[in-house]
Amino acid sequence: MSRTPLIAGNWKMYKTIPEAVETVEQLKEAIKDVSSREVVIAPSFVCLFPVAEVIRRSNIALAAQNVFWEDEGAYTGEISPAMLRSGGCTYTIIGHSERRQYFGETNESVNKKSKKSLEGGLKVIVCIGESLEEREKKNTFSILRTQIEGGLRGLTADQMREVVIAYEPIWAIGTGKTATADQAEEVHQFIRNQIGEKQGKELSEKTRILYGGSVKPDNIDELMAKKNIDGVLVGGASLKVESFARIVKFLF
Ligand code: PGA
Repeated sequence: MSRTPLIAGNWKMYKTIPEAVETVEQLKEAIKDVSSREVVIAPSFVCLFPVAEVIRRSNIALAAQNVFWEDEGAYTGEISPAMLRSGGCTYTIIGHSERRQYFGETNESVNKKSKKSLEGGLKVIVCIGESLEEREKKNTFSILRTQIEGGLRGLTADQMREVVIAYEPIWAIGTGKTATADQAEEVHQFIRNQIGEKQGKELSEKTRILYGGSVKPDNIDELMAKKNIDGVLVGGASLKVESFARIVKFLF
């Protein structure tokens, strides 16, 4: 079993088009020698196409931060998987906790978006994670079980092969409070077991599970040393080339 490490940068609602282009030009240069790990960046929608031009034939792939579950139609403000593919995306993030918190994303909408994206040939990074209150009440595992069951319901084994799960404890996002590598590993093992129960051990061993929440150059090596942590989803520290490049170049 070997899972290619995946390092993804989520730029959230940061960077204008010129800023995004400049950052990705520098990033491309900074990590040009990196191989055997996958690097993905997720700029805002308007930056996707100009960024795609810069990373053409590089080792950086492109993700959207969100997607809609219809092919086309009268859905003002929404963007379909086919549109994202035509703009150069190979991935989309789905169900980020900020979308759940501010934009009404539910496990059901995550499921619809995941299915449609996979049908349309986009790989998905499905985010799950518990709040501080849920952790303190010892509900972490039951919340995650519900998010996994609801979000991934009905996906075929072939579709599951294109799914990446990102475990992002909400209390660790943008707060500077990282889950310890041991805390994260415990949850990642639980997530892998859940997938194993539903989809069988072989598939669960192939599924990549990322950690997200205040990942920085100074904690990346410890996180990546864990058996069940297959990569990271990075917010704040992905905005600066120096810190993101160091994260990409984590030490085994
Ligand atoms: P952070 O964000 O690295 O700034 O904590 C992670 C995320 O929200 O994906």
